[in-house]
Amino acid sequence: IVDAVCALLSSTQDVAPRDYTGKTVLITAGPTREPLDPVRYLSNRSSGKMGYALAEAALARGAQVTLVSGPVSLAPIPGVEMIPVQTTQDLYQTLMTQSIKFHIVIQAAAPADYRAETVSPQKIKKQGDAPLVLRLVQNPDVAAAVGAQKQPGQILVGFAAETENVLSHAEQKLEKKNLDMIIVNDVTLPGAGFDVDTNIATFITRNASQSFPLQTKRHLADAILDAILQLEK
Ligand code: PMT
Repeated sequence: IVDAVCALLSSTQDVAPRDYTGKTVLITAGPTREPLDPVRYLSNRSSGKMGYALAEAALARGAQVTLVSGPVSLAPIPGVEMIPVQTTQDLYQTLMTQSIKFHIVIQAAAPADYRAETVSPQKIKKQGDAPLVLRLVQNPDVAAAVGAQKQPGQILVGFAAETENVLSHAEQKLEKKNLDMIIVNDVTLPGAGFDVDTNIATFITRNASQSFPLQTKRHLADAILDAILQLEK
């Protein structure tokens, strides 16, 4: 209730431009969890902060925002429709039905690329001193599937979390996933990437790239929204 009242009060004095009024924006955020047994899962270090910052920024600028979120410890954002997901397959199913309905889709989530081939129905027990071998199978590439059903005039934006050959890997993902823009972050840099309030990024489109120095994820979110408006022109 306090969050909702604060959002209402701040929106009356808001200095944010209302340049997303009339636009629908779908944003993905956070990690996925791939179960191994009833007590364990595979996941990654995504906190959801980048995706939630984008949702806040788009809402403040007048968009109608839907946030598809993996399991994170961030509070829901009043005024944003929330769709919780756990696994990459959940995310895939949600985006396959939802993504075509939105003007803009921004995929900041870090979905797990692999899941256990079989999920043990019981807690996995140690077998003497023997190592445990897990067999993993590939999850769907959600962004590529969204790219394959891209609607006319729709803008698709992805992220790339890279540790080496940062720009060339991101350019390959831009193509493979049929994106209009990819935001690449070198997650080895201090202050960038997972589970921090700041980021360092390069925005890559089909014909340009622009680098953004260390800044808060909320600030970067506005820069991403500015860049999307330029793509629409
Ligand atoms: O949540 P935070 O702690 O704020 O951290 C998020 C982040 C700051 C690192 C964020 O900016 C980021 O880079 N998110 C994407 C992480 C990621 O999964 O990168 P990737 O290079 O593996 O994936 C590339 C793109 O494909 C992403 O848009 C991803 O959502 C998508 N993807 C990836 C794998 C998969 N199976 N399906 C996908 O759709």
